[in-house]
Amino acid sequence: MLFPEYRPRRLRQNEAFRRMIRETTLSTDDFILPLFAIGGKEVKNPIESMPGQYQLSVDNLVETAREAFNLGIPAVMLFGIPDKKDPLATSAYANDGIVQRATRALKKKMPDLVVITDVCLCQYMDHGHCGIVEGHTINNDATLDLLARTALSHAKAGADMVAPSDMMDGRVGEIRNALDENDFSNTPIMSYAAKYCSSYYGPFRSAAHSAPKFGDRRTYQMDPANSLEALREVTLDIEEGADIIMVKPALPYLDIIYRIRTEINLPVAAYNVSGEYAMIKAAEKMGWIDGKKVMMETLTSIKRAGADMILTYFAVDAAKELNG
Ligand code: PBG
Ligand code: ZN
Repeated sequence: MLFPEYRPRRLRQNEAFRRMIRETTLSTDDFILPLFAIGGKEVKNPIESMPGQYQLSVDNLVETAREAFNLGIPAVMLFGIPDKKDPLATSAYANDGIVQRATRALKKKMPDLVVITDVCLCQYMDHGHCGIVEGHTINNDATLDLLARTALSHAKAGADMVAPSDMMDGRVGEIRNALDENDFSNTPIMSYAAKYCSSYYGPFRSAAHSAPKFGDRRTYQMDPANSLEALREVTLDIEEGADIIMVKPALPYLDIIYRIRTEINLPVAAYNVSGEYAMIKAAEKMGWIDGKKVMMETLTSIKRAGADMILTYFAVDAAKELNG
């Protein structure tokens, strides 16, 4: 059937029809809210390049998480900003580290909130790289033990899920072993499997003080030009025991999300990263776009591409939109 018999506009003529044929709908269940934990009390430092986002001391972080949870957001992703950095990232796996303290407080006050912890070393290393540095190279294999220790200390603090974001080879298997050997065989791993070496992480790095002091992350994070490599990374992580696969960033990599969704049968998460957030906020502030509408369209696109869950700084704003 062709025009004039077939008219696609027939099904777009009113909102009821449009609701009936809508293929993708967002739900607050889709969102994971990233939060930045920092030491001290009653701290709420605005992050300049991420309007509406803050470095939060544990007391304030619990309140922000509570607001999100009450809006229907099931989970948060914790990032730590430690008091001290050193060449072995010791505060990353310290029992009283910032993520460990924030996790314990959250699970105590809100047992039903899913607490996912970012497992990486860059915020905790004096040089800002995600692994142990020797000369000007990253020692992959020596880093694995520190990552496993970090994940295990998060699980011991009560984390419901751990999310390694370092992109070292073999880390998912090493973390799975460490968890299994210590009675955490029920703790899932959300693997940042296809994590690109992206310039969209800029605002995050100033917020988390995690920019590398020399060089860049190109020897461990993926080349933005590659997609077959993403499939290899994902396949390896699944074989090593990943439960959820993440693609990061989201918007410039919708093809990767789609491809992984089509070829892989595990849940797929997408990380709508700091630069994606900052661009929309900046254009909104300039009066150049309708920020709320662009936010909802962006999140819908990420879901339509195939993401089962979206890590996004927009989680609270979007949940408010969805709840009316
Ligand atoms: C650290 C980490 C980064 C992000 C999450 N974990 C930055 C990086 O790899 O340099 C980025 C998140 C964002 O931009 O929102 N491994
Ligand atoms: Zn890192």
